Amino acid sequence: MIELPKDKSIAQRCAVLNLDFDESFIGEDIKNTLQAANQFAEYNNDLTLNLGNSGTGIRLLTGYIAGSGKKCTLIGDKSLSNRPMRRISDPLNTWGAKISLRENKYPPIEIAESKLQSNFIYELEIPSAQIKSCLLLAALSSKTKIEIIEKIPSRDHTERLLQECDAMIFREGNKIIFDGTKEITKKFIDVPKDFSSAAYLIAANILTDKDIPLIGIGVNKTRTAFLDVLEEMGAKIELRNGCIISNEQRADITASLNKNLKGISISGKKIPNLIDEIPLIAIMAMFAEGKTTIRDAKELRYKESDRISLLLDNMKKFNPNIGLAEFEDGFEIIPSKNLNNDGVDLETGGDHRIIMSFVIAALVTGKKVNFDETESVETSFPGFFEVIKAWYQ
Ligand code: S3P
Repeated sequence: MIELPKDKSIAQRCAVLNLDFDESFIGEDIKNTLQAANQFAEYNNDLTLNLGNSGTGIRLLTGYIAGSGKKCTLIGDKSLSNRPMRRISDPLNTWGAKISLRENKYPPIEIAESKLQSNFIYELEIPSAQIKSCLLLAALSSKTKIEIIEKIPSRDHTERLLQECDAMIFREGNKIIFDGTKEITKKFIDVPKDFSSAAYLIAANILTDKDIPLIGIGVNKTRTAFLDVLEEMGAKIELRNGCIISNEQRADITASLNKNLKGISISGKKIPNLIDEIPLIAIMAMFAEGKTTIRDAKELRYKESDRISLLLDNMKKFNPNIGLAEFEDGFEIIPSKNLNNDGVDLETGGDHRIIMSFVIAALVTGKKVNFDETESVETSFPGFFEVIKAWYQ
């Protein structure tokens, strides 16, 4: 059986909420968030917390800490230090927090002592689970009430965890209503295996014509639009042994190739539901028939790297005959079978998902790819290269 790491989104939420979970087989992002959350729990005046590469960690903890009213500074590595933070500091400051950013945009995030007002109402401008979760956690630690309007749904792990811990949280249409005045019950959370890590192996199964089952994967509906996309592209997906544990759906996933893969168009509300899998969809599109178009995905430019421009640069290097168009909010791929087998040097931007995606591309073609670094894969999928070697090469 292939062992997969624990879900990065759920485990980091557990860390910030101080909920126990099995800390074995976790990536660097979870470790950094756990360490920072533990340091905050033993708070002494004027703390600086280092979240490494974790965007989820820094955004969620900023909300939780701002709500607590305590003074704290949050920093990260080079990539995290260039990711936009106004998306969380603006709503938190409107709510009553005192947060300042480098160049009014980026980490370090400096949180001064402050008090959040009660009954805050906020409509999300960006469909982001990190922003939503940041605000929910701020309501919890400040013991206030919040109403969040989300027009485009994003992953709902924070809502589910709070529910699991007996919080007063419910949804009315596109509104999330949370009363943070009630203490939550601390519970042990059984974290499923990470769907976004499994996605690389699902793709590997399809592209290398294997059907190795992936066991105990989190298949929360707000995370799995990638599976619908694969089916639409022509793959066969089967979910078995479905169950709900710690208020999260999980299942065993088998994926195989049904017929030839075909290109696809993706835009609109589906995007947040598969945002982390888009680099991999682009790779699959290189081996499909016909054009693939992705739009409404400008958020890709604000991830661990500018995933639109880096993906396209690397695809062009991987296969110079490929047809590519770049848009501000996406791209278009016209595949070409005309691929030589010369080795190629790819630029990673320190982005784990860029590396893993091109490892899958290399696997299919036998082409040798050299990366400027591979360490960043540890942030989400420790043991990735070993799994690929043992099961797919
Ligand atoms: C995450 C939400 C997504 C995703 C990230 C993890 C989370 O980011 O890309 O990898 O755990 O909430 P946004 O919420 O900023 O879109």
